[in-house]
Amino acid sequence: MPWELLDRNGPDGCPRGNLLVEGDNLDVARLLHPEHAGKVDLLYLDPPFASGQDYLVATLREGRRRLQHAYRDRFPGGLARYREWMAPRLEAACGLLAPDGALYLHCDTRACHVLRCLLDEILGERRFRAQIAWRRTTSHPDAGFYGAVHDVILFYADRSHSMRPVRSERDPELVRRYYRYRDPDGRRFMSDNLTGAGPGPARSFGQRGLLEPPHGRHWLHDQEGLDRLLAEGRVFWTRNGVPRLKKYLDEAGGIPVGDLWLDIQPLRSWHRREATGYATQKPEALLERIVGASSKPGGLVADFFCGSGTTLVVAERLGRRWLGCDVGSAAVQAARRRLLHGGVRSPFSVCRLGQAPGLPAPRARLQEGRVHLDGLEGVPEASWRELVDCWAVEWAPRGEDFRPDWWALRGESGLLPVLSVPAPGPPEGLCPRVRVYGIEGGVATVRALGTGTP
Ligand SMILES: C[S@@+](CC[C@H](N)C(=O)[O-])C[C@H]1O[C@@H](n2cnc3c(N)ncnc32)[C@H](O)[C@@H]1O
Repeated sequence: MPWELLDRNGPDGCPRGNLLVEGDNLDVARLLHPEHAGKVDLLYLDPPFASGQDYLVATLREGRRRLQHAYRDRFPGGLARYREWMAPRLEAACGLLAPDGALYLHCDTRACHVLRCLLDEILGERRFRAQIAWRRTTSHPDAGFYGAVHDVILFYADRSHSMRPVRSERDPELVRRYYRYRDPDGRRFMSDNLTGAGPGPARSFGQRGLLEPPHGRHWLHDQEGLDRLLAEGRVFWTRNGVPRLKKYLDEAGGIPVGDLWLDIQPLRSWHRREATGYATQKPEALLERIVGASSKPGGLVADFFCGSGTTLVVAERLGRRWLGCDVGSAAVQAARRRLLHGGVRSPFSVCRLGQAPGLPAPRARLQEGRVHLDGLEGVPEASWRELVDCWAVEWAPRGEDFRPDWWALRGESGLLPVLSVPAPGPPEGLCPRVRVYGIEGGVATVRALGTGTP
């Protein structure tokens, strides 16, 4: 492949594994075509929405909140230009889709009509399955106007695509309103009709004797069925002595999900576990629904506008293989950080297609079996840490590929660790390779010289 391998993560001897690529997805999808055409089971795409805005990523570095450019979502020339830009990218990505695979394209009301027409052309109208409205906010500042509170997710799949049925939890307010009754043991139920339209015979209701159904109706169960319901305590008597069926909440299951998704909360700043500071990050719950519904464990999930890597971490957690791509270094860094923080189990590689900005050489030394990162050549002591996103150590380089044994990632405090963990095993004669990743996407590598002996 004509791209630069930045790091290979996973145990020695493992295959290249999942792939995160920094580069324009048009080139990346075309390069992946020979190996992956027709193999992607699920494609989730969350491209720029033609919003006319620039987006930022907010990170905590050295105790301060820094705002960094993430991506530009401006298309001078309007939707016509946007269409022109999206068309080859959608075509290239869809070329990788398996015949029974599924595509979910996330957009909003500004361009969904354009994208739907494009996808009808690329995949065929008959593959169109749903236009999902996901409520991403509850209020909109545009008072006096019909403010947009939902995003649109276009779902395309062939009839051969097998989907796992999706159910959502019942609305607590509706549960409170309808499941009003409880058995003595606290089991909650609602009362439901025991009759259907059309006349029918009287039935015996145990001690209450023979009861005629209401005029023009019939009891829904035959005598045997009614006896069983009575024996199981599933008949509820109203104050007027009318028998009704008990429908228990614990047997009701979730509600089959339609094309209106109101039950997945948008990501808020207080969702600290998953918030990365990436402006347009989507909630993991949304991707859990999509990945869970439209792919199987071991299947291949791809996201060519992966941003902070939401699809990738969810695919990883649910045991799918994954391919991710984003043109922005801030996005790829956020995704890598997230995958590493999340304790990824499967091996993955990070590659780059295209030129990266330069980064001054790091000053690293080995002392007492640990690597000390002392700075970047020519950068003042007071500011070099802010230029570094993270760094990594490969204790005993094993060939061309950089295979980190240890990562220095900023923790919750945003401080960059400058001292590695001790070298594993006997440190004698070590000459570790140290790679520093700059916040603008540059990468610089040195050998840490010094003493390996503690
Ligand atoms: C809406 S964001 C995706 C957010 C992502 N779903 C998440 O949860 O973080 C759109 C992404 O598309 C990326 N992008 C824009 N143009 C691209 C291109 N030509 N190739 C790859 N990625 C691109 C942007 O850098 C941005 O990260």
